[in-house]
Amino acid sequence: MIYEITDLKLDNASLILNETLFHNANGYIGVRSNFEEGYPGGIPSIQGAYINGFYDFVEMKQAEKLYGLVEEKQTMPNVADTQGIRVFLGDEEFSMFTGTVLESKRTLNMEEGYTLRRVLWRSPNGKEAEIIIKRLTSFTRLSLFLIEYAVTPLNFDGSILFISTHQGEVTNHSNPDDPRVAAETVKHIIPFRVELRDGRSFVVSRTARSGLTVCTAVENRFASGTEGTVTTETLETGTVTRASAAAVRGRTVKLYKYTVFSDSIRQNNCENHAGEDIEKHTRIPVEDIYREQREYLREYWDGAFLEIRGDEKLSLAVHYNLYQLIQSVTKDGYGNIAAKGLSGEGYEGHFFWDTEMYIQPFFTLTNPEISKTLIEYRFNTLEEARKNARMLGHSRGALYPWRTIMGKECSGYFPAGTAQYHINGDIAYSIVAYYISTRDISFIAEKGAEIVFETARLWMDTGNYYRGKFLINDVTGPDEYTCIVNNNYYTNVCARYNLYWARVFYEILESSGALAPLAEKIGLSAGEIKAFSHAAENMYLPYDEELGINPQDDSFLSKKVWDIPATPKDKFPLLMHYHPLYLYRFQVCKQVDTVLAHFVFEDAQSIETIRNSFLYYEKITTHDSSLSACIFSIIASKLGFRDKAYMYFGDSAKLDLFDTHRNTKDGIHIANMGGNYMAIVYGFGGLRLKEKGIHFAPTLPEQWEGYSFKVHFRGSRILVEVDRESARFTLLSGEEKSIYINSVEYDLHDQVSIKMEAAHEV
Ligand code: BGC
Repeated sequence: MIYEITDLKLDNASLILNETLFHNANGYIGVRSNFEEGYPGGIPSIQGAYINGFYDFVEMKQAEKLYGLVEEKQTMPNVADTQGIRVFLGDEEFSMFTGTVLESKRTLNMEEGYTLRRVLWRSPNGKEAEIIIKRLTSFTRLSLFLIEYAVTPLNFDGSILFISTHQGEVTNHSNPDDPRVAAETVKHIIPFRVELRDGRSFVVSRTARSGLTVCTAVENRFASGTEGTVTTETLETGTVTRASAAAVRGRTVKLYKYTVFSDSIRQNNCENHAGEDIEKHTRIPVEDIYREQREYLREYWDGAFLEIRGDEKLSLAVHYNLYQLIQSVTKDGYGNIAAKGLSGEGYEGHFFWDTEMYIQPFFTLTNPEISKTLIEYRFNTLEEARKNARMLGHSRGALYPWRTIMGKECSGYFPAGTAQYHINGDIAYSIVAYYISTRDISFIAEKGAEIVFETARLWMDTGNYYRGKFLINDVTGPDEYTCIVNNNYYTNVCARYNLYWARVFYEILESSGALAPLAEKIGLSAGEIKAFSHAAENMYLPYDEELGINPQDDSFLSKKVWDIPATPKDKFPLLMHYHPLYLYRFQVCKQVDTVLAHFVFEDAQSIETIRNSFLYYEKITTHDSSLSACIFSIIASKLGFRDKAYMYFGDSAKLDLFDTHRNTKDGIHIANMGGNYMAIVYGFGGLRLKEKGIHFAPTLPEQWEGYSFKVHFRGSRILVEVDRESARFTLLSGEEKSIYINSVEYDLHDQVSIKMEAAHEV
């Protein structure tokens, strides 16, 4: 399971792309894969290191000062640069752009959890050396980023000098022409103390506006077996370490560079904390750090076990995606998952609905503890969501921000941002999914239910009755090419689920005796719950008799149809070439919307309606958003459109590795990566979590011999294996469970096997 790029191209586009693809992250810190030795001027590069949940505030000037428009956003700062290591062989400096690169290869090892760069280099004067650089961000020591730098002189003796830098003066990347990255260059991090303690360097910085502190501590030291001298000098905003050793041909000189990151959101005194952590991490043998990493990943891959037989390339791409999920996800309730993980600055480190609808389903099935942590983050920001609701005129309930880091809204363009109220229903949905798959009532009582009640309240304050139906007007659904509409089908069906489950949780807590303190805390009455149920039962869901589909919203079908085949290729994504208002007047979708509702809330419509909708929306969807193809794949699987299911799945699997959206340099598309997992497990495997339990409806793509995956369900673990002949469900651990296969209930106490001909075909 080793992901390798065997020929490291040195053209500009590949260099900046590989900075993203080979980044190291552990959910707390992320470091882009920049060359330690740097680049000659003129080569585009985004050099960065980031902390999940850490933010600065940035002014967001609105041209017209309307009430309640967001005037300040949060952004994820680049916190410090500790990647720099220049190397001199005698008096010649190593660079990929001088001398001759005889061999070069970069590898990501997803079992051992490190990246490796191996270069065979000949200097302009003919000195040859093998350079191997290994880097990791530790999953078991979240503050640690380690570089192991080994140089072996092949045909010369003399000296080797490393110049290793620790720089607090860093900036973020910006691009005024791309709405998906920050437009302005702002100085977010101001270093205010640089110190040497016991030969280690400490740089302490504060954010320009948010009042947070970050400390990085660095130690450079030679590996045992390498004799040499190491001296560090402090500069105004950083330090420079010179480490020199004798060069003897054939003998490897090895330097370790440890960096520890600490921040004031998580630590009372991050300088002290960084000091303690670097002491801890440098005291143990490096081999122990590698071993811990291996063991952590062994457990991870066991939990997330997924095997595809018969298509190695796609299998590798899928595993790359799964690796990015564990690299990106927070391990504490202070962070979440940014739209680009910790791999780049696209979308400024903001958290979106991507988490709940695309990523959390993976963790709910493979690692429910992480899923719980993600809900905890929403719980920790519930108070901000309440304030947001008040600001938007709602007297009750909570409205989660469309994009955020610390809980306050960050979307500058509210029609495609704040107006996406469905985020409330998405969060409620993820809590219900967690509950269905864990039955963790105490967590629901403590945290989950409060969110579901407060989001349900918001719907009551947003919608209104008209001729007996409950309507939700002037919101935006998932598709951002259609904004501020009445009765977006996805939103209404999502709100209905939220309201329905508020009642179910109320009843569950009531019968378990856990209701009273919460009801008292938020002033929730049985009468309010009745009103929720009434609205849910009378929720208006647009339906068009003639086409037999659910219109995306009330006015959608009355608009002109955008001619996608006639649109020149270079006009995509449309958002970069057309005024939003122009797009809003067409039937054209940036991404899956109604079809997403047909996946998530499939029981709301008949299979005929779902089929009609799929075929209708397919023609008008550009998939300009990376959140789209994976869901089309799932519904294509459900409908038995096997070729389409496979095609959409392939598009989603390769999106970042092949840079098909042409912006992976700004970071990976982590929602798509979660969606790609869903396209297998929910799509081909037909898995659904429903109130009654876990459902499967396995199908097998023609291109594959088979596939297998493991899921957690209510304390048990189930192995699913599908091939041409049969689908087998094996209870690996835990108590026996009842499961549904093609809607038939089975008791799973050992293994259930069904013939594939009997598999559900539509
Ligand atoms: C999509 C949103 C998504 C955001 C972050 C946008 O392009 O339209 O649905 O939440 O990207 O991934």
